[in-house]
Amino acid sequence: MTRKLLLRALAGETLPIPPIWMMRQAGRYLPEYRATREKAGDFLSLCYTPELAAEVTLQPIRRFGFDAAILFADILLVPQALGADLWFVTGEGPRLSTVTTSSDFDRLKPVDAIHETLAPVYETVRILSRALPSETTLIGFAGAPWTVATYMIAGRGTPDQGPAHTLKDEDRPLFEALLDRITEATVLYLSAQIEAGAEVVKLFDSWAGSLKGRDFDAYCVAPAARIVAALKDRHPGIPVIAFPREAGPRYEGFAKETGADCVALDNSVDARWAAKHVQTDGCVQGNLAPGHMVTGGKPLIEATRAICRAFAGGPHIFNLGHGITPDADADNVRLMIDTVRAGNWT
Ligand code: CP3
Repeated sequence: MTRKLLLRALAGETLPIPPIWMMRQAGRYLPEYRATREKAGDFLSLCYTPELAAEVTLQPIRRFGFDAAILFADILLVPQALGADLWFVTGEGPRLSTVTTSSDFDRLKPVDAIHETLAPVYETVRILSRALPSETTLIGFAGAPWTVATYMIAGRGTPDQGPAHTLKDEDRPLFEALLDRITEATVLYLSAQIEAGAEVVKLFDSWAGSLKGRDFDAYCVAPAARIVAALKDRHPGIPVIAFPREAGPRYEGFAKETGADCVALDNSVDARWAAKHVQTDGCVQGNLAPGHMVTGGKPLIEATRAICRAFAGGPHIFNLGHGITPDADADNVRLMIDTVRAGNWT
């Protein structure tokens, strides 16, 4: 059997055409997603109903033939599995019960209890590993500890992660205990996804950019390195993609510091800089601004080609720099894929 393209790129191979998938590829910009979500009732029911979660995971594969499918779930299922209340407010986003005191922390469940809540997610992975085309790679994922902690501490998304920074600065032992709990839960969660059939796992540190200096080392790099080491120990050969979004200059060296096989780049990174300073350590992924999926046209084609050209000399997975937005047009996704797969990007 010829090896799947995504796994070849992750193993460090330079391919003539990069494999391609898209963050949030199963999402509200697709009418078939909206129909299945309607059927499920609400977003969390969709996440916890394996047949429906598998269905929405497969929809973008059927429609576009992406090289990878990403498990449909959410990074906030881990806090819920640790005992936090979680709900989504339509048009606003997630809400959680907060962890800001030791008594809040003491009410959290021990890490091995997470599987009770997360078992349906593993079932989704099992369904997908049977249902996916043989050339499509299945990616599992979790939020990185810092990003998950920012939601657990604030009880919602925050523009500057203020409440998490406050807890870090005012009660560092409690903050670090929380990060440790999430780190351990994440290892168990990703291991279980791999045992169920995930072939690659990705760690989303969406708010890495607000950690500076030693905080970046202690709360972004160190937990990612711990998770990667534990996974490599339990499941040798399973590649890990790390996404320290908005890490800026700290993208340089990130793969070496954490042991990740691939670093995902947000769209603020200069691709030619990243080719020289990040891709030299292994595979890179991402970088196309998601706004092109709304606006399309010649700028989309040019930006797509520029990324393909910049990364043509090394291992590369084509992707956006962040998730596709609900107002995106599926025709623009098709145009991006065709542009990548046509090659000849001059
Ligand atoms: O990428 C995929 O297609 C796989 C599924 C996936 C979702 N969320 C589904 C989802 C993945 C990998 C995530 C990751 C996630 N979730 C992150 C990290 C990546 C990032 O975007 O920075 C974060 C921070 C979350 C937390 C989260 N989930 C927020 C803040 C929101 C609300 C904002 C929004 O887009 O509505 C969600 C909801 C969510 N997660 C949706 C989807 C498809 C939309 C829910 C809906 O259908 O109403």
